[in-house]
Amino acid sequence: MDALEAIRTRRSIRKFTGEPVPREDLETIVDAGRLAATGSNRQPWDFIVVQEKTTIEQFLAAGPWMKTAAAVIAVVLDPASRWWVEDGSAAIENMLIACNALGYGATWVEGDALPREEAFKQLLGVPGEKRLLALVPVGVPDEHPAREKRPLEQVIHWERY
Ligand SMILES: Cc1cc2nc3c(=O)[nH]c(=O)nc-3n(C[C@H](O)[C@H](O)[C@H](O)COP(=O)(O)O)c2cc1C
Repeated sequence: MDALEAIRTRRSIRKFTGEPVPREDLETIVDAGRLAATGSNRQPWDFIVVQEKTTIEQFLAAGPWMKTAAAVIAVVLDPASRWWVEDGSAAIENMLIACNALGYGATWVEGDALPREEAFKQLLGVPGEKRLLALVPVGVPDEHPAREKRPLEQVIHWERY
């Protein structure tokens, strides 16, 4: 699948078959995050790949559907870096696209994880000064949702708003 096709067909996947995702594919996914654009090339990120079921169970408060994920990638940022949110977001989107390109499904879980950030940080041993921006559950998709997107002609502007 080429890059544009992977972008066009990416959807948030919240239903997985429960099949495992090989370690090398998880490395490829995190590598796509590592290579994202980042302000001043600061790269203020770390990625924790969680495969232990007992740990994943602790994440279910942020989305019970994560139960069948093969892995959950926790995205950790250093907020001392000026563009940490933008950098983390770029890395997450790269990983979502990489997942789709490899035939896996994933979702950007931030809104439901934020209220539990401190508990998740403790669980994963994340240093206090770092932020846990999002969880990215990954697995073999067991759904193929279509989602309405605003049409191109509605959002594209030429020369002026
Ligand atoms: C900043 C951000 C936070 C999000 N937080 C959550 C979340 O907490 N839980 C969840 O299930 N999906 C979450 N999502 C996924 C969105 O719901 C999803 O991207 C949106 O509905 C569009 O669907 P699509 O990804 O299939 O295009 C989040 C996405 C973004 C970009």
